[in-house]
Amino acid sequence: MTDTTVIHANSVAETLELGRRIGAVLDCGWVIGLVGDLGVGKTHLVKGIAEGFRAPGTAAVEVTSPTFVLVNEYPGRGTLYHLDAYRLHCGEGLEELGIEEMIACGAVVIEWADRVADGLPGDHLTIAGRSTGATLRVWTLCAGGPVSREWLARIS
Ligand SMILES: Nc1ncnc2c1ncn2[C@@H]1O[C@H](COP(=O)(O)OP(=O)(O)OP(=O)(O)O)[C@@H](O)[C@H]1O
Ligand SMILES: [Mg+2]
Repeated sequence: MTDTTVIHANSVAETLELGRRIGAVLDCGWVIGLVGDLGVGKTHLVKGIAEGFRAPGTAAVEVTSPTFVLVNEYPGRGTLYHLDAYRLHCGEGLEELGIEEMIACGAVVIEWADRVADGLPGDHLTIAGRSTGATLRVWTLCAGGPVSREWLARIS
């Protein structure tokens, strides 16, 4: 089982498709940390994840950046918690936001996860985005331990 998978997305549609692939196998207890520069496509990836996580027969939910509200919740096969740590520093606030409870009862996706790395379980999946052209993105999925290595195997 590998620790790292690299996926190229040549358009917004391909980033959404990668997100749907992830969302389709996403389960409660998963923690995904998204990293990468402003505007690389983290929120678009979450849009795809929320779609793939949707329960059959339910309506699509609107996914927007939680930069100001800090946490958005989307229903699916469980609850998907979407956090943005842009305004948090060094793990401060994650505990107050109830990260432990979120992990215990749902799946958690965090934008700017590198800003709060100390507050996350070490064994989580990191997805790093890099822009290599106007619409070209390279997504590197990296497992932090044995549990997230299993998740990665389900995505790949
Ligand atoms: N292949 C691609 N994948 C994702 N987004 C792309 C791609 N090509 C172009 N884009 C554009 O890049 C932007 C990505 O915006 P998005 O809000 O998803 O980024 P973000 O990483 O969440 O930004 P922020 O750091 O502000 O939270 C959008 O304007 C989108 O149209
Ligand atoms: Mg965003």
